[in-house]
Amino acid sequence: MSDSAQDNIQWYAQTLRDWFLKHGRKLPWREAPTPYEVWVSELMLQQTQVVTVLPYYARWLERFPTVEALARADISEVLQLWAGLGYYRRARFLHEGAQIITQQFGGNFPTDIKELKKIRGIGSYTAGAIASFAFHQNTAAIDGNVERVMARFFGISGDLSRGKTRQALEATANAVAACGHASDTNQAMMDLGTSACAKIAHCESCPLSQRCFALKHGLTESLPEKKTPPQKSQEFRACLILTEPDGNCLIARRRSDLLLGGLWEFPMITLSKDSPDPEAAVRLPRHHLWDAALSNIPQHWKYSGHQVSHIFTHIKMTVLIDTAHCESLAPLLKLQTETYDAFDTASLKDLADTHAISTLMKKLARAATARQPQPKLPI
Ligand code: ADE
Repeated sequence: MSDSAQDNIQWYAQTLRDWFLKHGRKLPWREAPTPYEVWVSELMLQQTQVVTVLPYYARWLERFPTVEALARADISEVLQLWAGLGYYRRARFLHEGAQIITQQFGGNFPTDIKELKKIRGIGSYTAGAIASFAFHQNTAAIDGNVERVMARFFGISGDLSRGKTRQALEATANAVAACGHASDTNQAMMDLGTSACAKIAHCESCPLSQRCFALKHGLTESLPEKKTPPQKSQEFRACLILTEPDGNCLIARRRSDLLLGGLWEFPMITLSKDSPDPEAAVRLPRHHLWDAALSNIPQHWKYSGHQVSHIFTHIKMTVLIDTAHCESLAPLLKLQTETYDAFDTASLKDLADTHAISTLMKKLARAATARQPQPKLPI
């Protein structure tokens, strides 16, 4: 590396640190964190904003203050505490990882990055975050915000996830970390990436603007290079709110290997997946489908006119709400199906307090209790 490139990196690291010490966000997982606290916060922060994470993080640490406490917990309780944060695989990774750390490492996180990465759910980024924030190692931790700040400042063009471009990014990030205080410089980039160097840049308030390559060359909008987002597929489902005379309704737990595995929902059936005419499937009578799914139990069901849409990473899902009444749900509680490994009854009102449910399920329960029907599909 040339002297001037090394000087630039040194200036970058020093400027980041000075800025962070004055302006860095004061966040609960930044106060002398243990590796466990960094791990929990980083998994929660993947795909989720800081403001959303704050109350979840507080509740989590109160209930599972140590890695041992988490390892001992039942997965249903873990999922219930996570409910609403989305991407439930993260909660499973934490639970499985906690068991590995207690059983194989005596409750102590390994300090070596390679060892950390052997634990399920800990990739390069999380390993770098744990090593730098908790163990004060001068190592890089590259997330999307860090990528953006670095690509703009150093003028790194190309697809940042691959090949030579990735190597250039990592080499530069490692050189920055090697300047020292990587915990501060990594977190400074995370903070700048959500403020002055967010997708829409506010260069006037950026401490790095004086030497920023993208700003100098008018490339702030084109760096980093945009990835084409994956196409979202369309899926239509129907759920059945089957109620017994005391007002309780049937809920079912998704098998653990499925999307939203371990979470409870009203029993659902898929009506169409990426069909050229999805509404055709939606218009078809559903009685026989419910009969097949739930062994002939719901005799008197009707389409309620409510529907709920929810966006997952790659799927736009619309769920139609069917309703039915029966004398007793008891015979259904022994059911096991391809999708569900347990059935239970719950009151619509208290569902979120008694069972781990997803945001989609919260929306469905809300729509089912709302008096005004939502707009109907064009049938
Ligand atoms: N986003 C990801 N990790 C973060 C952290 N440690 N602090 C703030 N925002 C983050």
